[in-house]
Amino acid sequence: MTVLFYSTLDDPAEWLPRLRGLMPKEDFVVWPEIGDPRTVDVALLLMQPPGGLGAFTALRVVQSLGAGVNQLALDTMPPGVRVARLVDPGLTERMAEYCLLAILRYHRSFDVFERVQRAGAWAYRLPEPRSGYPIGIMGLGEIGGAVARRLAANQFTVRGWSRRPKQIADVACFTGEHGLPAFLRGLRALICVLPLTPATEGILSARLFEQLAPGAVLINVGRGLHLVEDDLLAALQSGQLTGATLDVFREEPLPANHPFWSHKLILMTPHVAGAGDPDTAAGLVVENIRRARAGAPLLHELDRERGY
Ligand SMILES: NC(=O)c1ccc[n+]([C@@H]2O[C@H](COP(=O)([O-])OP(=O)(O)OC[C@H]3O[C@@H](n4cnc5c(N)ncnc54)[C@H](OP(=O)(O)O)[C@@H]3O)[C@@H](O)[C@H]2O)c1
Repeated sequence: MTVLFYSTLDDPAEWLPRLRGLMPKEDFVVWPEIGDPRTVDVALLLMQPPGGLGAFTALRVVQSLGAGVNQLALDTMPPGVRVARLVDPGLTERMAEYCLLAILRYHRSFDVFERVQRAGAWAYRLPEPRSGYPIGIMGLGEIGGAVARRLAANQFTVRGWSRRPKQIADVACFTGEHGLPAFLRGLRALICVLPLTPATEGILSARLFEQLAPGAVLINVGRGLHLVEDDLLAALQSGQLTGATLDVFREEPLPANHPFWSHKLILMTPHVAGAGDPDTAAGLVVENIRRARAGAPLLHELDRERGY
């Protein structure tokens, strides 16, 4: 049996030597040089290859090459195929670092200094006490939990929100729809690290923005479809929000004529907050190939009903 590798972002030249080093006897094939698709029982995928997975009749396990799985189009995946998420300490670390950097940029007013410099103005602003700068994190899973701990360790006042109850030291945790208003109330900064599911699509909307402190900022590192783009533009226009840092977009790359490109209150990064790092992720991938072959439970197996 063979293991298929397919990604439009991850470089097989970086992944394959590490995977082969850990599994020298394994037969890895890289799209499109795949030989007979009926011999593939495990696929390492960022998304489905062109034409889908129908020809891979022996496929039993898909290991995602991303932490999120929505891009795998689960509804078109053969029903018996098990799917595992990528939980990579290197990726998690990059995400926590990105969020801390984005928060410090706002808290230390670098966004304001960037703008006033261009206007030739000298604007003296000292940072507020971190204890008076509550930050909320939507999603307290592998990544959101690490982001929350990183910000709390940097003396910010941190709240987190998840579907099920959580306990994290120095983080006030809120749960579900009923916990959402208390979580949002008065936040100065909101970070979205949710998975994209029917329940979370469009969650970053006017209804939510108006519950934050006036002049709050938004950081979206979840998925582009979490954000209602027109609601963000309206909130920036009204001053309810004073900045947004966006790493993910409805369409990537963002179309050339999109209003975000030139918006002075929006900082965009091209989906780089956290990429999988083969150095730290190859071990997990190899362990899941072994588990797939043994018919054992996968590490970080996706709950296809829950959608994340
Ligand atoms: N920008 C990037 O480069 C990048 C990189 C990696 C990942 N991501 C995004 O980050 C997401 C999270 O990754 P992860 O590894 O942290 O996922 P995870 O471990 O599955 O955590 C997901 C968190 O979201 C919460 N959640 C899900 N649905 C919810 C709902 N309806 N209401 C409230 N909370 C909800 C979960 O609550 P429970 O704990 O109660 O289940 C959990 O705390 C990915 O799905 C992807 O979209 C982006």
